[in-house]
Amino acid sequence: MSFGHQSDSQSSLQIRWLIRRDMPEVLAIEQESFEYAWSEEEFLCILRQRNCIGMVAEIDQEIVGFMIYELHKSNLHVLNFAVGKQYRRNGIGTRMVHRLIDKLSLQRRREILLEVRERNLEAQLFFKKQDFLAVTVLRNHYDDTAEDAYIMRYRLASDVPALAGPVINRISDYLDADAA
Ligand SMILES: CC(C)(COP(=O)(O)OP(=O)(O)OC[C@H]1O[C@@H](n2cnc3c(N)ncnc32)[C@H](O)[C@@H]1OP(=O)(O)O)[C@@H](O)C(=O)NCCC(=O)NCCS
Repeated sequence: MSFGHQSDSQSSLQIRWLIRRDMPEVLAIEQESFEYAWSEEEFLCILRQRNCIGMVAEIDQEIVGFMIYELHKSNLHVLNFAVGKQYRRNGIGTRMVHRLIDKLSLQRRREILLEVRERNLEAQLFFKKQDFLAVTVLRNHYDDTAEDAYIMRYRLASDVPALAGPVINRISDYLDADAA
């Protein structure tokens, strides 16, 4: 699998769960990434919820990106996600999203949902590249600005072909042959 301009440093990228002592680096990335950044209290409050998971991407023990997401019955919901400014456009965000996609299954959680601000064109283009589709607009979604949000969704494609042809029931074939 290719990740665009894959650098040597990116090949040593590790993705693991976020732990408490990652917080200063995560907060630094958060602050350089968002106009309305989450505070440390907001991170900790969200991460205390049982269905909430934090993931970090690390190169040589330096945190270069993070993602916070919730587990729901039939989907994963991304709440926060950023890559450090100087590490962007190296495929790190793609690797993190792929890690999330790997957690989907046709039997259980088969989609990823997230909200993107209407002005955040860069993130919209990034998620479009990852095969997410904008499915709904939430008007005046945010408390801080009068911006709308787009809900973007990635849905796991079913490998099962559409019911185009006859369904072959091997057991009945076997029984028919046996009876003949
Ligand atoms: C969105 C974000 C996480 C992407 O991380 P990243 O590591 O830079 O992404 P990648 O390098 O994997 O990008 C993969 C592809 O997405 C698209 N893409 C990514 N950033 C883009 C941008 N700024 N403009 C246009 N396309 C972009 C490109 O097609 C890119 O492939 P290319 O570099 O070969 O052209 C990062 O830009 C970021 O942290 N932004 C600020 C925080 C944010 O908006 N988070 C999302 C909130 S919903």
